[in-house]
Amino acid sequence: MIREVIRILNPYESGKSAEYLKKGLVVLCSNENPYPPHPAVIEAIEEELSRINRYPDPDYGELKEAISEYLDVGIENIAVGCGASDVLNNVCVAVLDVMDVVTIPIPSYTMYAILAMLRDASLNFVEYPYYQIESEDIIDKSRGSKLMFLCSPNNPTGNTIKDLEDILSNFDGLVVLDEAYAEFSGKSAVDLIKDYDNLVIVRTFSKFFGLAGLRIGYAVSGNLELIEGLEKIRLPFCINNIAVRAAVAALENLDYYVRIRDKIVESREKLAKEIEKFELLEVLPSEANFLLVRVKEKTGLAKKLEKEGVAVRDVTGLMGLEGEHLRITVGREEENKALIEALKRILE
Ligand SMILES: Cc1ncc(COP(=O)(O)O)c(C=O)c1O
Repeated sequence: MIREVIRILNPYESGKSAEYLKKGLVVLCSNENPYPPHPAVIEAIEEELSRINRYPDPDYGELKEAISEYLDVGIENIAVGCGASDVLNNVCVAVLDVMDVVTIPIPSYTMYAILAMLRDASLNFVEYPYYQIESEDIIDKSRGSKLMFLCSPNNPTGNTIKDLEDILSNFDGLVVLDEAYAEFSGKSAVDLIKDYDNLVIVRTFSKFFGLAGLRIGYAVSGNLELIEGLEKIRLPFCINNIAVRAAVAALENLDYYVRIRDKIVESREKLAKEIEKFELLEVLPSEANFLLVRVKEKTGLAKKLEKEGVAVRDVTGLMGLEGEHLRITVGREEENKALIEALKRILE
């Protein structure tokens, strides 16, 4: 009954943050924001609870207005969705026909391949060690592609894309730039949407704004035909009232989230130095809220850490990544300390 592609599909391996939290582990596996929401966000959620008998605004005007102010783009440049994952899927639905070629530099976020496969697209993986994309090379290897997925900062390597404009000027298809972690790097390509019609940027409230549990994402593009298409195909009312109110309240309290971000970035640098002290471990430079750690000799370290009460993401075996690697979310100070103590117990 079901389509062949769905029968053979390897489903996305979601982080098990909820399960680990229940077990009482220190959870550093899903790149979540470890800090609580601003009190105004909680207040907005509580207020909205009494109105859940009503449907949301079908156009999400209030949410788009708040995003438009945040990024200094027009409301007509924004399409929304139920998390960045939903928006990425909508882009694929809007753009891809059967056997269209999709270029995916790897190692990167595994959902891109799944979403493209679901459109019966043809996948063109191009491997760059630790996602050091060479613009001339990717331009060459993506000729004829309808779409290219880029991620900056990239999950799981943590680095940002250089020479984006070079790629945008020379690639004939659509560049989908995933900026899920952009606020942690202080770098964004949003300004480029007015110059490049073939750019759509996908963003989320799950990371910097710490609303992973509420599911709010959006796309920003200067290509109004694409934005209109994305708005047309998203399911009606896909973002609930509570999520909308929370997202708007978060944007109204940007200072708080900037302070948290600065704290996370500071902790990231401190944590990287601590991890580097272990001879077995190498930390890749990161501009996100997580670190990619190479384990120099096969150790099965993620499993051992779990036994010691700390959950990290084992990205060993991820396409485009050679050897054992862990992706570790930067947590609160005490969580990072628990990780270092666990590493000491295992490795010293
Ligand atoms: C690169 C990247 N894009 C998108 C997402 C999905 O974000 P959302 O929670 O908004 O669906 C994630 C989540 O981990 C991610 O790492």
